[in-house]
Amino acid sequence: MKRITKAIIPAAGLGTRMLPVSAAVCKEMLPIVDLPAICHLVEEAANSGITDILIITNRGKDIMEDFFDFSPEYEAALAAKGKLAEIERLHEIADMANVYFLRQKETRGLGHAVGRARSFVGDEPFLVMYGDDIIFSKRPVCRQLMDVYEKYEKPVVGVKPVAADQIYKYSSLKVEPIEGEDKLSLCTDMIEKPKAGQEFSNLSILGRVLLTPEVFDIIDNLEPGAGGEYQLTDAIKKMARQDGVYALEFEGDRYDLGSKSGFLMANIVKGLEHPETKDEIRKFILELSDRL
Ligand code: UTP
Repeated sequence: MKRITKAIIPAAGLGTRMLPVSAAVCKEMLPIVDLPAICHLVEEAANSGITDILIITNRGKDIMEDFFDFSPEYEAALAAKGKLAEIERLHEIADMANVYFLRQKETRGLGHAVGRARSFVGDEPFLVMYGDDIIFSKRPVCRQLMDVYEKYEKPVVGVKPVAADQIYKYSSLKVEPIEGEDKLSLCTDMIEKPKAGQEFSNLSILGRVLLTPEVFDIIDNLEPGAGGEYQLTDAIKKMARQDGVYALEFEGDRYDLGSKSGFLMANIVKGLEHPETKDEIRKFILELSDRL
């Protein structure tokens, strides 16, 4: 069995739900307390044993590249102030994994973005981490998917139940139970952005998928799907219909950083954990809740 060492993070979307800020600021660099959102994804991959990460970007997102680099001038200024622990933390971040960057050039959908990674991936299974989806979990979600792959050697999609009035924004999966498995099922079909009545189930793909390189030929032959974009879900659907793909209801709380409320919620959750902010944020929330 081939080891999984590579992950792709598509982060080349337009970010229209985060306008106006996303018109000038790369939303992946917006902070969750004191770490840019993208850093949480790279950390999750590195903690799962991934060594090489390709971030798919577009114009105006070069700042991500700077973040995963050393900065001798800035570090000299920090050293002059005795901030050695802070320098060490910056180095730890830059050394978490080999981080590569590639521009998508045209914003033509998640499927198109993943298709750009063919030469990076080669003939190995790989993870796709949706750049907007941050997931806080005990065991990294990438690792949870890798465990399934190591057992069954087939593509695995991370899924969660989605409320009936929200599923039109996501996908809906047709699944069959697997004997002896509780959170794992076999997906045989799916639909992207279902209209009312078209849903197979309340399970949607959220945030993480583990794919095999066969997906690239499928992506190359995709027709534009929902929203006129090349949808990764349409490619996974083909694999599901042909051979089935595994659907894992992963453990973890997922926040959509592409939405204003998801971004704020992730900050509150992490703000309640961070040693420098947790006491003040807790006090503030308790006081605030009296006024709600
Ligand atoms: P979304 O459609 O949810 O994000 O894509 P978006 O386009 O950035 O945001 P809105 O909808 O306009 O607010 C899901 C993920 O796929 C990436 C996005 O960056 C996001 O992480 N993506 C999407 C690409 O990399 N390329 C694309 O062409 C489209």
